[in-house]
Amino acid sequence: MSTVDPVTPVLTKRWLSPRSWSIQTYEQLEGYTAVRKALAATPEQIVQVVKDSGLRGRGGAGFPSGLKWSFMPPNEDKPHYLVINADEGEPGTCKDIPLMMADPHSLIEGCIIASYAMRSHHCFIYVRGEVIHCIRRLNQAVAEAKAAGYLGKDILGSGFDLEITVHAGAGAYICGEETALLDSLEGRRGQPRLKPPFPAAAGLYAAPTTVNNVETIASVPFIINGGAEWFRKMGTEKSPGPKIYSISGHVEKPGQYEAPLGTTLRQLLDMAGGMKDGIPLKFWTPGGSSTPMFTAEHLDVPLDFEGAVEAGSILGTTAVMVFNETVSVPWAVMKWTQFYKHESCGKCTPCREGTYWLTQILERMVDGNGTEEDIDTLLDVCDNVLGRSFCALGDGAVSPIQSGIKYFRDEFLALCQKNREKNRKPALAGAN
Ligand code: NAI
Ligand code: SF4
Repeated sequence: MSTVDPVTPVLTKRWLSPRSWSIQTYEQLEGYTAVRKALAATPEQIVQVVKDSGLRGRGGAGFPSGLKWSFMPPNEDKPHYLVINADEGEPGTCKDIPLMMADPHSLIEGCIIASYAMRSHHCFIYVRGEVIHCIRRLNQAVAEAKAAGYLGKDILGSGFDLEITVHAGAGAYICGEETALLDSLEGRRGQPRLKPPFPAAAGLYAAPTTVNNVETIASVPFIINGGAEWFRKMGTEKSPGPKIYSISGHVEKPGQYEAPLGTTLRQLLDMAGGMKDGIPLKFWTPGGSSTPMFTAEHLDVPLDFEGAVEAGSILGTTAVMVFNETVSVPWAVMKWTQFYKHESCGKCTPCREGTYWLTQILERMVDGNGTEEDIDTLLDVCDNVLGRSFCALGDGAVSPIQSGIKYFRDEFLALCQKNREKNRKPALAGAN
């Protein structure tokens, strides 16, 4: 029987409570009740509930979480690790850091349950190094949980032991890629590893490892308490559950909005107070700059893992960046491409060289020195990066360019034509 009402807010329900981050508030509001239930069940039963719930990874890729957990070997020949990817770095994405600031114990409770289910006795939370306030808050919450007997040896008399280490990254976007994150955690330069082997076969210190996003793991205590059926009442059949959409840009009230998966931008704009100063929408991203952009024609696209793909993009991190008519598309695309060039780890040639050349061409265009042929050159370079790069960063880097030209080619063309006019030599008087 469900103990939680099957409507949102779920993940954000404690965020506005006084001192929501403290263990006292957490315990008063049903906190650490799910872990008691979980420790009374078997690890296999927990994995099955998560599978039945249909929970899919909230880091961007949407991989089924229960299935991922089931890849962990049942024996304990080597130590098992759970690693939380809290290196939230995708442009526009701001859901995991607010979650850890407002409700860190929901993540910790999720870590205990997930670790128990995967027979892990050491969990790492890898947080991007810039958010020192968040790292402090997590460390405080881990200390509170340990003092209360939720971490350490023989948790709640169950015989299960778990330690959590909060690890600060050093500010590289690529360390959000799970295998680069593992390299970084081992003390090496963060660069993606070849997959397979996937982390469940050889992850941290070559031992079985599961890497999960913050929001994914924070959803787990609610699933244990509410049940798989309750969770499936939200969202869509293939993308069940609630989701935190982070909305930024030209809206009246930017921020985090929790809604069932499948919510449309039209509905999200209503929640966020509409377009700022009533200036009409021009373009937007469904899930960060790595996801192909949408336009005002896509207001009713259901923002779930299938709906976004059917409409020509991907859901990504549900970082909804909204731009009004005052914004130049080539300029925005150039800014994103500069970011990818800066963050490319340099391991593979298509991404390392491609992002360099794409940036050069876009900067030239925006500076008023581009030619019409540059548009085709941009698309040609994109074709040589997409699908030929070692990790998802390369594919993500070309998304804004390809989609920007697809929907706003005229704007790129106008920039170049203006340049052609500027450079045209004045006709000589009397020449024929
Ligand atoms: P992916 O689809 O390669 O993998 C997703 C997860 O499923 C990984 O944990 C992977 O190990 C697992 N997996 C996939 N296939 C598997 C198999 N056959 N066997 C076992 N495990 C398997 O996607 P990836 O590269 O991990 O993530 C890409 C997404 O990350 C993008 O869609 C983007 O939206 C998102 N992203 C998020 C950022 C953030 O700040 N949260 C930053 C940048 C990108
Ligand atoms: Fe590094 Fe880019 Fe290649 Fe990924 S695609 S491995 S970030 S160079």
